[in-house]
Amino acid sequence: MESGTVLETLRSLEEEALRELGTLEDIDSLETWRVAYLGRRGKLTTILRSVGSLSPDLRRSVGAAGNQVKTLLEEEQARRSDEIEELEVRRRSSLRAIDVTLPGRPLPQGRLHPTTQILREICSSFTAMGFQIVEGPEVEWDKYNFEMLNIPRDHPARDMWNSLWIDQQDADGRLSMLMRTHTSPMQARIMEQTKPPIRLIVPGKCYRYEATDATHEWHFYQVEGLAVDEGITLANLKGTLYEFARRIFGPDRKVRFRCDYFPFVEPGVDMSVDCFACRGEGCRLCADTGWLEIMGAGMVHPKVLAGVGYDPEVYTGFAFGMGPERIAMLKYGIDDIRLFYGNDLRFLRQF
Ligand code: PHE
Repeated sequence: MESGTVLETLRSLEEEALRELGTLEDIDSLETWRVAYLGRRGKLTTILRSVGSLSPDLRRSVGAAGNQVKTLLEEEQARRSDEIEELEVRRRSSLRAIDVTLPGRPLPQGRLHPTTQILREICSSFTAMGFQIVEGPEVEWDKYNFEMLNIPRDHPARDMWNSLWIDQQDADGRLSMLMRTHTSPMQARIMEQTKPPIRLIVPGKCYRYEATDATHEWHFYQVEGLAVDEGITLANLKGTLYEFARRIFGPDRKVRFRCDYFPFVEPGVDMSVDCFACRGEGCRLCADTGWLEIMGAGMVHPKVLAGVGYDPEVYTGFAFGMGPERIAMLKYGIDDIRLFYGNDLRFLRQF
């Protein structure tokens, strides 16, 4: 073989290889290219392998030229590989930038806690009837939580509210501050500050020193209600709460009032709605009674009115207090109050 012919073959091989290399656009075809030229049976490898059969002179010049081509192709391959990679990155990002028809990625959506939802529902059913919303302190004086509500010190009625006391003593060395056990202290606070007419509700958190079970939590919400004016009667209480039950539990609810005892109302009642699960026939939800008790209520006790400086001969009022978690439990069929504050997303996501 003539040295000129081999060198020419090498040169045209180099040219062909470089031209082809320039057209490659992905890593796979780059690999095919590498195998075709530089692989064990590749075109360049074949030529280099034949160098051994040439005369010593030719061997030197063709060998040197062949190795140069080999180095060049390897370098060009590496460079092209980088280019292709960059090309792919750009292709991917330009796709992302311009394809406005792709559906958006859904953002994780938050939701309101079931207690917040039921509180809002309860509040708006009362604001629709002209009640204002007021809030009060969760740390309360004995005076408002008990005394002004006709629950004197050492009176056995205090046992109705197991209390969490704050380490704060009055002049006689007695505990005088506690986590409020109900929202009723706001009755006294509001009446003390304002003159009738009063129509308000008080949503808020309460605390009790309580062993927890399916129906008891040591912290929970209440919604208190208070209406005071001249000539308010038990009929007003019944009408208002009936309308409330209708709004929360549905248009054909029946309600039932029975006598109950709370020191700050006279007469005191509890209110039940007919069980919407069995329509009053008796089932598991209503413990076979056909009724679901939803709150305590009554006419504001004359002693409470007098205690805030109102004349009980002129003014009368009604008050009520309910547990929104209990209302939500009845409404949504939740069987354990501890679920509300257990932070289990599997429970919370259902609302
Ligand atoms: N505060 C009472 C309780 O926690 C409920 C209640 C409020 C009853 C208002 C009558 C009037 O049990």
